Amino acid sequence: MNGRRVLLVVGGGIAAYKVPELVRALRQAGCQVRCALTEAAAAFVSPLVLQSLTGQPVCRSLLSAGEEGQIGHIELADWAELVLIAPASADLLARMAGGHAGDLPTAVLLATRAPLLAAPAMNVNMWEHPATQANVALLRERGVRFAGPESGELACGWQGSGRMSEPGALAAQAALLLGTRSLAGARVLVTAGGTRERLDAVRVLANRSSGKMGFAVAAEAARRGAEVVLVAAPCALPTPAGVRRVDVESALEMREAVRAEAPGAAVVVMSAAVADFRPARPQSHKIKKEELAEDAGLHIELLRNPDILAELCAARPAAAPGAPPVPIVVGFAAESRDLLAAARRKLARKGCDLLVANDIRQPGGGFESDENAVVLLDAAGGAEELPRLPKAEVAAHLWDRVEKLREPGL
Ligand code: CTP
Repeated sequence: MNGRRVLLVVGGGIAAYKVPELVRALRQAGCQVRCALTEAAAAFVSPLVLQSLTGQPVCRSLLSAGEEGQIGHIELADWAELVLIAPASADLLARMAGGHAGDLPTAVLLATRAPLLAAPAMNVNMWEHPATQANVALLRERGVRFAGPESGELACGWQGSGRMSEPGALAAQAALLLGTRSLAGARVLVTAGGTRERLDAVRVLANRSSGKMGFAVAAEAARRGAEVVLVAAPCALPTPAGVRRVDVESALEMREAVRAEAPGAAVVVMSAAVADFRPARPQSHKIKKEELAEDAGLHIELLRNPDILAELCAARPAAAPGAPPVPIVVGFAAESRDLLAAARRKLARKGCDLLVANDIRQPGGGFESDENAVVLLDAAGGAEELPRLPKAEVAAHLWDRVEKLREPGL
């Protein structure tokens, strides 16, 4: 984790006594560490100890001109590559779930785009309370990862679930989440979201893609150190940390953006749901009912859109024997029948190196969901079926596969 930037948000709880050891474990692994303390945390662990161990001033107050002058809360949020919340008290989890920003730690947690890893620690009854469990479920849904809590004897005298995970285990989880920098130096282009094809001044033809999968793919590539450009069709998602976003609307605009950004890319991942057709004559005004004969339907003529993925693959120069193709191209396939056979045909037709196929009829998988169950098909005939996983984890598997394809000689 050499040089990686970890922000440690310390909540108020007796487990805070383990935080100095956690700082040491992170520092020994090479991380730069900064600490942000809640008011309650400062009652359990000495800010001076944390300052000495991190070599950085401890951040505590949102309203202190001196502190904000050194590093403002937004700067701190942007600085972090990973935010580790340890201990994550019941109160801090509740405030995170509620989107509070009334003190420095919660403001930073709201402002950061870095991945969050929470290590809960509290009394077993507090942990098992439906309010806490609902907060944890909500935070998980938003992408917060959890480490622990462990079971055992608790500081309050109770037995059960509520002990903070050990510092060594937390540092190991942090290393996993920070990723490997394995894509450092590589330029990566990702498309995401569903394109919109204009029909008139107010109407569009759209599809159900939420963009979540493509955004997760872009975020994971950035975490692995790639220079990432994300060509995004309309979707209400925040740009992942370290990613340059180019917004487009229609398939034709996406094609232009891909053509402009693809040169120099080592990998292109096309996860966008591109409309296959567009209205032949989009109107600049609003189509009015009175323009149509009474009871007449509206007939829309549609033109075929270009296949951006197939065009990109066809334009690639032939790879030298034993060398990986440049760029490596990954396609997606949303299928509703005969998943494997249809996806295999699509891979051959489009000419890409890897195809991520999902069955859109599966409940909870695919569109709009936070999870996906996919099969990864490669051009050599290999197929890897993944279990239903959060999209961030699907993205990690995808990049593991792409990294293998980039190894020379394969
Ligand atoms: N794609 C593309 N341009 C299009 C349509 C699709 O680049 N005009 C890309 C998508 O980004 C995705 C892959 O092609 O990576 C497959 O998309 P999908 O909608 O599953 O397939 P289609 O090409 O639309 O084929 P079909 O309609 O037969 O399923």
